[in-house]
Amino acid sequence: MYWLPIFLVAALGSAQGQQTAQTRVADSLSECYSNPVLADRNNLPPVTMQVLIDIIRKIEDNPNVNMDLRQLSSVLLHTYRQDGIEFHQRENLVATANVLPFAPTFSSFHRHRLLLTRLIPNNLQVLGNDTLPSVLKCTLHHMLSTTVDARVRGDESSCNQLSQYRALRTARSGRSISDDVEIIKPAVLKSANRNGKLRRYDPNNDVEFSNSGNGGLMSERQVAESTCPLLDGVVNTPWGAVSAGHVIAGIAAGAQPQRVNVMDLVRDANLNYRNVQQTVNSIYPATLSGDLAEAVLIQGTERGSTSISIGTAGNWNSTQATRHFMLHNRINVEMTDPEIRGDIDGFALGSTITSTLGAISTLKLSTLLDMYYSSRNGAFDSNLRACNRRALLQQYVTNDNLISETNAFAAALDTNMPLRGTIIGGLDQLVTSAVTNLMSYTTSNLNDMNCVTTLAQSNDFRLRTNLYIALDFSWPYQAVEPAISHLVESIEVGKYGSSITLLNALDGSIVINTTFSSADFYTEYNATRHAQIQSGVNLENSLTRIKLMMQETLLNESTRNYVGGNSSVLLYMINNGNLQTSDRAWEQANEINNTVPDLRVLYASATNQLDALLPYVREVQDIFNIGLAAGATNVASIMNPIVLRIQSVGRRIVNPTCGFLFNGGSSGTRQFDDYVEPGFINFYRLSPNYFYENNDNRRVRVSRSGTGGGSLTVCHSRSVVLPRPNSTANVQDISAITCQPLVSGNVEISLQNACDGYWSIRECPPLFLSVRSDSSLPAGSFASASCTDANCRYPYDIRFQIQIQELGCFSGATSVTASFIVLLSALYITLYGSS
Ligand SMILES: *[C@@H]1O[C@H](CO)[C@@H](O)[C@H](O)[C@H]1NC(C)=O
Ligand SMILES: *[C@@H]1O[C@H](CO)[C@@H](O)[C@H](O)[C@H]1NC(C)=O
Ligand SMILES: *[C@@H]1O[C@H](CO)[C@@H](O)[C@H](O)[C@H]1NC(C)=O
Ligand SMILES: *[C@@H]1O[C@H](CO)[C@@H](O)[C@H](O)[C@H]1NC(C)=O
Ligand SMILES: *[C@@H]1O[C@H](CO)[C@@H](O)[C@H](O)[C@H]1NC(C)=O
Ligand SMILES: *[C@@H]1O[C@H](CO)[C@@H](O)[C@H](O)[C@H]1NC(C)=O
Ligand SMILES: *[C@@H]1O[C@H](CO)[C@@H](O)[C@H](O)[C@H]1NC(C)=O
Ligand SMILES: *[C@@H]1O[C@H](CO)[C@@H](O)[C@H](O)[C@H]1NC(C)=O
Repeated sequence: MYWLPIFLVAALGSAQGQQTAQTRVADSLSECYSNPVLADRNNLPPVTMQVLIDIIRKIEDNPNVNMDLRQLSSVLLHTYRQDGIEFHQRENLVATANVLPFAPTFSSFHRHRLLLTRLIPNNLQVLGNDTLPSVLKCTLHHMLSTTVDARVRGDESSCNQLSQYRALRTARSGRSISDDVEIIKPAVLKSANRNGKLRRYDPNNDVEFSNSGNGGLMSERQVAESTCPLLDGVVNTPWGAVSAGHVIAGIAAGAQPQRVNVMDLVRDANLNYRNVQQTVNSIYPATLSGDLAEAVLIQGTERGSTSISIGTAGNWNSTQATRHFMLHNRINVEMTDPEIRGDIDGFALGSTITSTLGAISTLKLSTLLDMYYSSRNGAFDSNLRACNRRALLQQYVTNDNLISETNAFAAALDTNMPLRGTIIGGLDQLVTSAVTNLMSYTTSNLNDMNCVTTLAQSNDFRLRTNLYIALDFSWPYQAVEPAISHLVESIEVGKYGSSITLLNALDGSIVINTTFSSADFYTEYNATRHAQIQSGVNLENSLTRIKLMMQETLLNESTRNYVGGNSSVLLYMINNGNLQTSDRAWEQANEINNTVPDLRVLYASATNQLDALLPYVREVQDIFNIGLAAGATNVASIMNPIVLRIQSVGRRIVNPTCGFLFNGGSSGTRQFDDYVEPGFINFYRLSPNYFYENNDNRRVRVSRSGTGGGSLTVCHSRSVVLPRPNSTANVQDISAITCQPLVSGNVEISLQNACDGYWSIRECPPLFLSVRSDSSLPAGSFASASCTDANCRYPYDIRFQIQIQELGCFSGATSVTASFIVLLSALYITLYGSS
């Protein structure tokens, strides 16, 4: 079968340079298949939109990569995307170092090849092999490259949710065709087929497919095929799994809009269908038309279908830390659900990108994706959001355009793609059927979370938390990794969000350094690393070490004059059923309480250890039970109480002169800038350790420090932890919250006598503060998108300033004594002062 690559190279010419367009696995990607560590997807980070955005940011931030969105989107495809790579097993093949048993032979490769060579050509160099570490390079490759891996894995009995059909299939494997015909009456299925139901289970299709081994072009693929093959090139989002390569291709094509002559796409200058339009708009074949044409040609020739089946559902085999996407079928996999989603998303983003770049030429690709795949504001227009995908298809695509563009591209692809049949007429009927089925499938079968539900289920605030997890490494990795992964996603570990640090609950030592990159965290935290760490929990040792680390962090922040902006949370995850507590351990917890008052300490344990843990926390709500088990599907519901607790910890506002000894002086006047998205709210917390004793000039001010649309409201409370304007029906709450609009000038919150009547720092409540943007993003408006400084996550972020004035330093450890002295002198004055 070696004639195939030679034939194609000769035909298309190899002058068009990129390796990823050639019929061999690109050299720079081959280690993703040959290195056993990299080849096992369980060793690579999970494939989520968050990780994809994180990896793209790394490339954008790489000083050697100086590209704008237009260039980068194209270069990413040329460097990391190679569709259609599949495993080839031959009988009697002796493993040899000279042959990689993988090649881009799956049907998706042929349109990919046209995409790279003709539709999104690229004159730039591809990115250097050292742009990303190998683990992230392979992860990105797998996120962008569409292919189907049909190897039998052994877990087929559990992967397919359509169990009634699975039973049918499993029974059939290894049997003859006639057996099948006896089991299912073909006539029944054929009539079902015509109604559009059961279309995927046509036994004739199966038979043809698995029987086509002798002499067929795909004959070298696996001898036995999985009933639920893996679809690659997919990332997980809350709005369904998405083929990310199609999204980037749509953006890249839209960013360099062009009409390509169909004859330039044709091999041998010989088009079999002449009644098609002469040019194609490259965004069509880069997205929707690419997959539609592929489905038309494959299904039309191999299956002889007159109705082209569009859409194949699938699912991840885990609810968290998604790595393997399993299709519910092994035939008609040319336009699967994730590809449909990626095509629509890429088409909508590509269709709008020129006007977007016209308004904001410096927009980054990572930012565009981050806006589109977000719950609320969207890509400068709340309609341009993944949750609105169905409407976007209607808005940007007309049936007629899609049909004629697809017709033309299908005619061109036909000359590039080796098929097992020749369509000698009726191509346009097949295309019309495919387009009709796409439209109806998207409307009735693609039931992803819509925008109304998204709004109801998402938060209007974002976390910026430095999360420290003290992990008991006796947890099985398979049980605890999904839970940690859920936390990473929920607190948005990322450049503009939260950080994560993994500590050992045995001694408090650092296992994985603080990182603001989810991709880096996942790279470091793998099963091998987990197994190497000594397991167990020792509260005394670990709390001692963590205390010292936190104290050092406070000193470092003093040196950097850090006034605030992040919250910090320490979470113990304990598997050990019989926790050893001791007075000395408690002393350490108490010292953390007194010297690092803004650190919230949470304890989660596999079994109920409430009594043992109660003395270690500020409130009983800081203790959790987490019954984590490998393969559990309820990880999110187990972890959500912890996420809610983390969310209730406001961002710190601190007097940087205090350190952890709280022996510093007045803060004087200092400030920091922060950002809020349109319609979002930020929550802050100022500990009484900074205002316990009185100073008449002590106050916090909030003012605007940049442009950005809409008005802000500043609220504060001493009892409501997350104070909002009119947030709650609870009248008591409303009266405990004071809100002021921030129109011009500033909002000032006085801390004069703020701890009056409290006898110790621990009794005196903190100040809870919030800053809310009152209006959501105006549709289609770039006017307010003016946040250009490096700390803006989104261009439409609103910048403001929090200023502290004359905050003091009051140690929790000495506070009781201090207030006793105050009390005694007050008594003294009362008793003897007047005499
Ligand atoms: C790319 O880098 C990896 C790791 O450094 C190396 O193993 C591989 O050979 C390199 N590939 C190419 C094509 O240089
Ligand atoms: C998902 O399936 C893959 C491939 O069979 C397997 O390696 C992996 O362990 C599975 N993951 C889970 C969480 O079951
Ligand atoms: C706070 O978070 C931002 C990003 O969200 C980060 O750049 C900064 O370093 C963090 N500060 C601290 C003290 O961790
Ligand atoms: C953490 O980072 C420091 C330097 O930044 C490094 O020396 C140390 O080895 C790292 N620790 C771990 C556990 O990776
Ligand atoms: C696991 O991660 C460590 C770094 O923490 C890395 O050195 C090692 O190669 C990884 N192992 C696997 C199997 O991925
Ligand atoms: C404090 O700063 C020093 C010097 O920058 C650094 O080496 C150390 O790791 C920092 N400590 C913490 C806990 O961040
Ligand atoms: C920490 O302080 C709170 C009061 O703010 C108190 O209820 C709790 O017992 C203290 N915990 C420890 C371990 O000292
Ligand atoms: C709170 O609600 C009242 C009436 O329900 C309204 O007049 C007032 O403006 C609201 N305040 C804020 C800050 O939204």
